[in-house]
Amino acid sequence: GTHTLDELLASVLPRGHDFELLHLQDEPAQTHDIVTPMPTTQERADTLTVKIQHFFTLFHNKKAVFALEIYVYLTLSSLHNTKLIFVSKADTSGYCDIKLRMGDITKVFLQYLISVDPLHYLRKVKPLRRVNDHDESLIRKGTSVERSLRILAVRVDLSPHPCQNTDKFYITRNDVGGDTNWVTKICLFTRPADDYLFIGSSKNAKKHKLNGDQLLKWWMKIIDGLVCTDFDPNNVSARLRVPGEDTGRVSRTYLNGDLTQSNNWQVGDIFGGTGNDLAVFHVPLFPDDPKSRFIRHLVQENRIMKTNLKTYWMELQERQEFKLSVIVSVIGVEGHTKKIPDYLPNDREIFICSSRRQFRYIRSYVAGEEYDNEEGTLESYVNVRDYLELRYSKKLLKLSGTREPEIRKPVVASTTKRSAIPVTLLQPRKKAKPAK
Ligand code: ACO
Repeated sequence: GTHTLDELLASVLPRGHDFELLHLQDEPAQTHDIVTPMPTTQERADTLTVKIQHFFTLFHNKKAVFALEIYVYLTLSSLHNTKLIFVSKADTSGYCDIKLRMGDITKVFLQYLISVDPLHYLRKVKPLRRVNDHDESLIRKGTSVERSLRILAVRVDLSPHPCQNTDKFYITRNDVGGDTNWVTKICLFTRPADDYLFIGSSKNAKKHKLNGDQLLKWWMKIIDGLVCTDFDPNNVSARLRVPGEDTGRVSRTYLNGDLTQSNNWQVGDIFGGTGNDLAVFHVPLFPDDPKSRFIRHLVQENRIMKTNLKTYWMELQERQEFKLSVIVSVIGVEGHTKKIPDYLPNDREIFICSSRRQFRYIRSYVAGEEYDNEEGTLESYVNVRDYLELRYSKKLLKLSGTREPEIRKPVVASTTKRSAIPVTLLQPRKKAKPAK
């Protein structure tokens, strides 16, 4: 069967160590289309998009050590239903006293979200604000394309509207046509930064940061792992795009088989369109995403209806927000999962907030703290633990690692193929604890 979140996490955390986890989910809310629909398409009316935010923080020795922010978008239409997992931010504080494998930890969080039944989110959905006819932020039949796009551009950086109409609606298995085999998508934008969630943590000399190239490879290993273990090999496409780099080079550098196990990888993205198509109708709009910010910028510059995908990707790389020569990438997966996503999270492993405000408030105990010294990370732990207990009688999820100490691989001369190493050469790690 499907594993609970603590089973999944325990398997990648070292044996003999205890951890605690904060897992917040905000209330599912109806939202705008992820990709701007072409003004001519009829599809639009029967599409419903629901947005959900997840926030995970892992604590060890009463210190926040790793955090991950993810958005899930469910798109329901008469054609097919899609669950899109947008990985927004991953960060470490650098205050962990033991060595953790953050890549493996990140992978199991994604495995968990892949396994979650979309209907889990659809039991209570906050509708989009009902706006009156004079509302200028509404796109109507008569609204010009230019104007519509301006409105959309503003929406990109707005979280779902504060709700005037608080009637929640819900969707059942019948409403989705009994469809259980949703299309699952994963997408992310890899860009290294000093600190994404643990503000000031880059001042901690012990924090390990990956550069652009390393980060790209780090994510590729995680996502390729998921493609191999969780997706149907006959029904999945995996895509990598490095803005500013041509197809041949990306293919030779990253998709030559050294980095990936799956043979479903190609250069490109999962949002369709060819180089000559307008970018605006193919680039998804996610919160706090450089791709979306650039779309908005094109609207402001009045170039949105002229910029094709080829120009868009080329110019994106030249944007000021990317430090010169830092490698960024867009990674995407689309396909059917091996196992039908039917997991229903239990009460222990998730705290579902009853409002966006509550979600932001609790999240800010972690992401609003200063991490330039160890105090901050201890404070965030005490604050979030006490707040949850006093206010909601809710405890952080306790975890004990079950992963055995690692076996260190011998250093291999660069001419030797990795697969050629006989297993007998493996040596136990020097620091491995003696068995008690
Ligand atoms: N010294 C030397 N090497 C180290 C150290 C260290 N202190 N810590 C980890 N490593 C090595 C690991 O051994 C591993 O090497 P291997 O693959 O050869 O075994 C490699 O670095 C990766 O280690 P992980 O534990 O998997 O990952 P890491 O601790 O580097 O965490 C992360 C990855 C979260 C990206 C971290 O670098 C970080 O916090 N960066 C700053 C924020 C950031 O850029 N986030 C990513 C944004 S993109 C996005 O989120 C969509």
